[in-house]
Amino acid sequence: MSPTLFDQLGGTAGIDQIVEDAIAGHLANPVIKTRFENAKDIDRAKRMAKAFFAFGSGGTDTYAGKDMVSAHKGMNITEQEYLAAIDDILAALDKNSIGAGARKEVLAILYSLKDLIIRV
Ligand code: HEM
Repeated sequence: MSPTLFDQLGGTAGIDQIVEDAIAGHLANPVIKTRFENAKDIDRAKRMAKAFFAFGSGGTDTYAGKDMVSAHKGMNITEQEYLAAIDDILAALDKNSIGAGARKEVLAILYSLKDLIIRV
């Protein structure tokens, strides 16, 4: 059987590192850094983002965090900010030597969430 996306991302440890790197990227990205500097509870957001990726890549059966609309409701996130966040996630995948197939799959999943995140 071919490895799941979860496996290709390095399982729980791999995903945890990717999320740490992506959030570090957000905090250094001029387009979106203030969003994350001002987040009410960044530790929770990190924890939930790790759980969300583990769930979304087939590694776990449940995700106890907010759905994407509830998580971003009222933030009025723009297309530009959305692209900036995706760029940081792709850079985190590269940093962790994730292969081209898994990278494309993650990008497709992120893109499919677009309307749940922009201006909700
Ligand atoms: C690219 C797709 C995105 C995904 C998969 C994603 C995922 C998540 C998740 C799982 C959470 C935590 C939910 C919870 O606490 O239960 C979260 C929170 C958050 N997201 Fe996103 N997000 C995305 C895009 C963005 C963008 C574009 C921005 C703004 C530029 C953003 C800003 C935030 C902030 C500031 C929080 C923390 C809210 C708080 O509790 O204060 N997200 N996101």
